[in-house]
Amino acid sequence: MSFKKIYAIIACDPAGVMGKEGKLPWHCPEDLEHFSNITRNHVIVMGYLTFLSLPKSYFDQRIGIVFSRREHPTNENHNLIFINSLDSFMSLKHLPNEKDCYVIGGAQICRLFLEKNLIDELILTQFKKRYDGDVFFPLSFIHTWPCQKVQESDAFTIHRYLKL
Ligand SMILES: NC(=O)c1ccc[n+]([C@@H]2O[C@H](COP(=O)([O-])OP(=O)(O)OC[C@H]3O[C@@H](n4cnc5c(N)ncnc54)[C@H](OP(=O)(O)O)[C@@H]3O)[C@@H](O)[C@H]2O)c1
Repeated sequence: MSFKKIYAIIACDPAGVMGKEGKLPWHCPEDLEHFSNITRNHVIVMGYLTFLSLPKSYFDQRIGIVFSRREHPTNENHNLIFINSLDSFMSLKHLPNEKDCYVIGGAQICRLFLEKNLIDELILTQFKKRYDGDVFFPLSFIHTWPCQKVQESDAFTIHRYLKL
């Protein structure tokens, strides 16, 4: 694998809620802008359900790596790569090796990478309010990681967590 560093960039509520019925539980343009600015011109890694939730224009300015166990027709968009396992991810060779990579969710893919200790740094937006949801970020993985607050607003705080 050829990435300089593997980040995750995620938003959740105090209980770890990160999704509801295939979408984000909140409407927060400020956090979307933060996500968009950080990931622009980088490689983003996601599960198929997260891929379905994103506008296709996202892949004009980002290379997308999408986890799915099913076959997908060859894509005309050269910025999109479908892979069916973590082994395939590890053996990706044709990406520019100076690139950082951002795991952007959802919960299944975050858990997959955290269980294998593959995330070097997590950029986490933590909403102050509670939301209803059906998909949870596994907060237990990071509760001992040192963290630094980088931004605060009325609605959320953003921290950077560094792998121990
Ligand atoms: N708050 C946030 O920061 C944030 C970020 C991203 C997403 N979300 C939300 O999270 C929800 C989606 O998350 P999710 O956890 O349900 O789904 P997900 O992780 O986005 O995607 C799950 C899919 O990924 C594929 N997959 C999972 N593990 C795999 C493996 N080991 N190898 C190959 N493929 C694998 C499977 O696709 P196939 O079924 O095609 O095989 C699986 O159905 C949505 O509500 C979304 O809006 C929130």
